[in-house]
Amino acid sequence: MIDPSVRVLPNLEGAANALAATVATSIHEAAERRGRVTLVFSGGSTPRPLHRALASDYEDLPWTATHVFLGDERHVPRDSPHSNYAMLSETLLDHVRIAPENVHPWATDLPRPEDTADAMELLLKEFFEGRLPRFDVIILGIGDDGHTASLFPNSPALNVPDRLAVAARAPDEPRERMTLTLPVINNARAVHFLVAGAAKRHALQCAFGSPKGMQSCPASLVNPTDGSLTWWLDEEAAAILPDVAGQ
Ligand code: 6PG
Repeated sequence: MIDPSVRVLPNLEGAANALAATVATSIHEAAERRGRVTLVFSGGSTPRPLHRALASDYEDLPWTATHVFLGDERHVPRDSPHSNYAMLSETLLDHVRIAPENVHPWATDLPRPEDTADAMELLLKEFFEGRLPRFDVIILGIGDDGHTASLFPNSPALNVPDRLAVAARAPDEPRERMTLTLPVINNARAVHFLVAGAAKRHALQCAFGSPKGMQSCPASLVNPTDGSLTWWLDEEAAAILPDVAGQ
């Protein structure tokens, strides 16, 4: 894996718009080269401006050839204010011409997070015809504690070599979660972190610090084996990284 590249923009809006341009290019390339686009979006609040930019600034994206997944989800109803699917729908899916069958949310109507993770495991196996899923683009965020997706510090979900999707427990409500696993994330063609705000500085320090690959800092375990890794930061978050601040 090449060294991650780091893009620092003045603010979240700038980072989100720059990332949207890169994602739009990846979408066009995937559609032209493979006739199909596979995207994984993150939950949380940071990605909202990214979704809005993709929905409003790129009229010609081939959404009919595009499949959308979420890197993780809370085990809540799809219309819950805590639902990542609800946030993605509100900020992107409801505004683009994507076929409903091309959107693959986590089946949170199943009784337990384990059941929901098993359903996603099956879906991914069928969708990628038994091969390890290789997504064109995976968007990730980072929590203040260094978690990403719903891979939390020192979680058993960090050490699951033979699963594509697992249940997970968050330290805060809503605690019951499901998440893609590291083997899936690290098999992507392109992984992008979008991070903003001073509150994320400690998490960035652990993600960029050494030694790499600490289970206490799951974001540092994201290391695509045959793909790119790019960090899109605002200046507030990047200030902690002296050698990149102001890039
Ligand atoms: C989730 C996300 C999670 C998120 C971080 C950052 O389900 O909450 O997938 O990994 O990216 O917690 O969240 P914010 O963007 O809200 O700071």
